[in-house]
Amino acid sequence: MDKILVTGGLGYIGSHVVVELLEKGNQVVIIDDLSNAYESVLDGIQKITDKRPLWENVDIKDKTSLSSFFDKHQGFDGVIHFAASKSVGESVANPMLYYQNNVVGLLNLIDACLKNNVNNFIFSSSCTVYGKPDNLPISEDEPIKPASSPYGATKQMGEQILEDFSKSHGLKTIFLRYFNPVGAHSSGLIGELPINTPQNLVPFVTQTAAGVLEKLTVFGDDYDTPDGSCIRDYIHVQDLADAHIAALNYLESSKETCEVFNIGTGQGNSVLELINSFMEVTGVEVPYEVGERRAGDLPELYANPEKAIRKLNWKSKLDMKQALLDAWRWEKNYRGIK
Ligand code: UD1
Repeated sequence: MDKILVTGGLGYIGSHVVVELLEKGNQVVIIDDLSNAYESVLDGIQKITDKRPLWENVDIKDKTSLSSFFDKHQGFDGVIHFAASKSVGESVANPMLYYQNNVVGLLNLIDACLKNNVNNFIFSSSCTVYGKPDNLPISEDEPIKPASSPYGATKQMGEQILEDFSKSHGLKTIFLRYFNPVGAHSSGLIGELPINTPQNLVPFVTQTAAGVLEKLTVFGDDYDTPDGSCIRDYIHVQDLADAHIAALNYLESSKETCEVFNIGTGQGNSVLELINSFMEVTGVEVPYEVGERRAGDLPELYANPEKAIRKLNWKSKLDMKQALLDAWRWEKNYRGIK
């Protein structure tokens, strides 16, 4: 697969995947409407790879601009679809935005792919589709439970929609169910840069360490876990980017039309462990307090990544400490901190 369309390619995960694709010699075209990304990410990508990918400001909700985009750009071998909204809390407050962006946008993109003979599709899914799992670690066979937020519902629907098109139109599809992506490119030139106050733990930690935010709140230390704080599977965004390359290679050779893979390390770490590791590896103090539980948080989630190891020939290589060092390098670079 040579020519790849990356939707949301200026966002956090998308930009790291674009770098990997360019470094592997792929042609990349990005569409991104800058709703949660900055155009300057292109400079970071260019500094790392010596290549500046084509970018068009296209909102996938807008069928007309999507179709003019495809009139201009043809011959894609595959699409990697990141362009979606991802904040659980925001989805509860504004479900319309989530159904529009994540469902209507997806339908428009599938329609455009079918009309333009783009037959390989990688979909950013999430461990959120499992809801509260019965078993740990979570394997792909774990039943899908009712979603606890509109965001989660849109990821479940996205998978269902793609499965139907894969059956009816032979669209070859892979869903990658990410656990908790963290870290940044080792160059410190691209990383996670939310437009508003971060909702996720690691950007909250790095922005507190940088003095941008005053204090971090640990959402609950009375869970039934060894230290009372929640446990997650923190996967380095570089490893996650590699998983997309592995998935593209797999799509090329596989006869399966629709497959799902968990993308995690298989290792769970608590919120308090993460904060302490950050302070240990960076030597920077992070002021924090323990607060109330956050509605909707589950005590413990971590992946069984065996299927991806076996079939995609992919495995995470970088640990949480490395991810925290990389996230901090990026935050310092961005803020101009020595
Ligand atoms: C959530 C979604 C996931 C989505 C991800 C990215 C669920 C179950 N998970 O993950 O699908 O892809 O967001 O948007 O819907 N925490 C604090 N203080 C903070 C922030 C977080 O203590 O200021 C804790 C949380 O309680 C949680 C852990 O840190 O235990 C990780 O939180 P977060 O980074 O928001 O990710 P998830 O909620 O696990």
